[in-house]
Amino acid sequence: MSTSTTSTAAPGGDIGIDEYAPSIQNLLDQQSLKWIFVGGKGGVGKTTTSCSLAIQLAKVRDSVLLISTDPAHNLSDAFGQKFTKHPSLVNGFKNLHCMEIDPTPDQDAPEFMDKQKDMFNFSEIAMSIPGIDEAMSFSEVMKLVQSMEFSVIVFDTAPTGHTLRLLSIPSLLDKGIAKFMDGNLSGIFSTIGNVVGTTQTPDQIQNRITSLKKTIEEVNVQFKNPDMTTFVPVCIPEFLSLYETERLIQQLTKLDMDVQNIIVNQIVYPEIDCGLCLARRKMQQKYLDQMADLYMDFHVTKMPLLKAEIRGVPSLSIFSELLVKPYDGKTQIVLPSQDH
Ligand SMILES: Nc1ncnc2c1ncn2[C@@H]1O[C@H](COP(=O)(O)OP(=O)(O)O)[C@@H](O)[C@H]1O
Ligand SMILES: [Mg+2]
Ligand SMILES: [Zn+2]
Repeated sequence: MSTSTTSTAAPGGDIGIDEYAPSIQNLLDQQSLKWIFVGGKGGVGKTTTSCSLAIQLAKVRDSVLLISTDPAHNLSDAFGQKFTKHPSLVNGFKNLHCMEIDPTPDQDAPEFMDKQKDMFNFSEIAMSIPGIDEAMSFSEVMKLVQSMEFSVIVFDTAPTGHTLRLLSIPSLLDKGIAKFMDGNLSGIFSTIGNVVGTTQTPDQIQNRITSLKKTIEEVNVQFKNPDMTTFVPVCIPEFLSLYETERLIQQLTKLDMDVQNIIVNQIVYPEIDCGLCLARRKMQQKYLDQMADLYMDFHVTKMPLLKAEIRGVPSLSIFSELLVKPYDGKTQIVLPSQDH
């Protein structure tokens, strides 16, 4: 059965003609999307959102891979299933895989660095290029992922700083390589080459670096193509989160990355006359109003704060429906794990 007869602009279901519908339906409709980054401050709900988005994508795309690049991995916690640095199927799905990687190795972890050097057979000198360790680690992941031909890959990213650094690797590497290729460093290399006992000639090392640069550049071209790649900031309606989201969007724009969707999570919908809930909602409303002004030409999807944590496939599935059908603010959302 083919679903490719309608254009990507076709509005889904009851979304209607609203160009900026408050739903992620646009992400499900855009079949050309290959890379979706989910990012934001720690604790706002990145993992919950990326798991939910991946669950929805698995309904409309052939195969979905969800990758955590947050060293504080929690895909395993969210799904209640242990994942590794290789894709494994999520229990209960035929086309949804998860993996957890660390794309920004710790500079102080000598064992890891040694392993990296062995793998790529670089010399000490090449390893001194700023950004090269991250670039190698990242390109390794991208090669692996691209060789597996998933229809769409969702990144559950680390908090903002980390992620922006990851996305800046190509230009970081560019600067590093420029330095490496300049006369001084090559000169130093030929002197030190024998001392550190490398078996590679400067030419061989240059070739390795050039090939690494090519991989990174290919990935970068895809990341800058809005047909293939988009970034979904997740935030909560509070001052710090709104501020950080605004900064994130500005920096992503500088990196030529597409942003069309914003998820506002943990919105309080007071059920009864509860002072705490009413006060928090009033506080949140101020920022929701500001967002309505700031993000008029974005799909802003609002997600309710539920009474319990959202863990396990059944709970995540229920939550994920709200990404597509905006919450009405009234219906009681009861998660299977809750004893009500
Ligand atoms: N809308 C929500 N309602 C209730 N709990 C939520 C909601 N969003 C996230 N949580 C819970 O908050 C915690 C942090 O969410 P998580 O997605 O891990 O954040 P992040 O990945 O941004 O650090 C988790 O325990 C998660 O289940
Ligand atoms: Mg997380
Ligand atoms: Zn209350």
